[in-house]
Amino acid sequence: MKKYRTPSLVINLKNYDEIYSHFSVDISKISESIATETDVEIIVCPPNPVLYKVVENVSIPIYAQHVDDAKIGSSTGSIVPELIKSINCQGSLINHSEKRISINEIEKLIQRFRELDLTSLVCAQSIDEVESIAKLKPDIIAIEPPELIGSGRAVSKVNPKIISDSVDTVNLIDKNIDVLCGAGIMTGEDVSIALELGAKGILIASGVIKSNDWKTIILELSKPMIKSD
Ligand code: G3P
Repeated sequence: MKKYRTPSLVINLKNYDEIYSHFSVDISKISESIATETDVEIIVCPPNPVLYKVVENVSIPIYAQHVDDAKIGSSTGSIVPELIKSINCQGSLINHSEKRISINEIEKLIQRFRELDLTSLVCAQSIDEVESIAKLKPDIIAIEPPELIGSGRAVSKVNPKIISDSVDTVNLIDKNIDVLCGAGIMTGEDVSIALELGAKGILIASGVIKSNDWKTIILELSKPMIKSD
């Protein structure tokens, strides 16, 4: 049973200084208010030092930005899946372009997430990687061409084929895996094109965090995802 709805808007806060201190809670509360207003699934990924505080303050799904396949107990500095589960995180990004891990560790984490009923959102940089990861049966695969991350040049406009090819590749392996896309997305139009290409949602960071009006931009990005009755 999936613990998330699609289409999904995933906002990765990364470590931008705009979201330090209480601002991670602030942007998450804004996201929650828009999720309530639009009924769109909005998922926020705060940095680890504020993860628990954000989860405690909002009711929308909160995901970690990274986890380690480390043991419970003496594993200093690692982020253990059981711990994020214990604070009511609902999942995590895995293998983000800015935090890459081996395919073996990805496989172990997907299995561990399944046992913990956590949602695995595994990132990929290429079609080959999408294919390799899809065979491991994560819940979600996000295609993100690294050269477009933070560029303001939307993957859905600059490289639409990588989105449609990712969807086709995954559907040939397991239609239950949802494909999201990210990198350079800035506007509601960028989101609309991604959905038309078959993506079940988008990941975004700088286009939201660097905006001077979080509420307006998150609402704009959500509108193409609003389900008509
Ligand atoms: O996780 C999504 C992120 O990598 C995309 O970054 O700044 O291009 O929206 P950005």
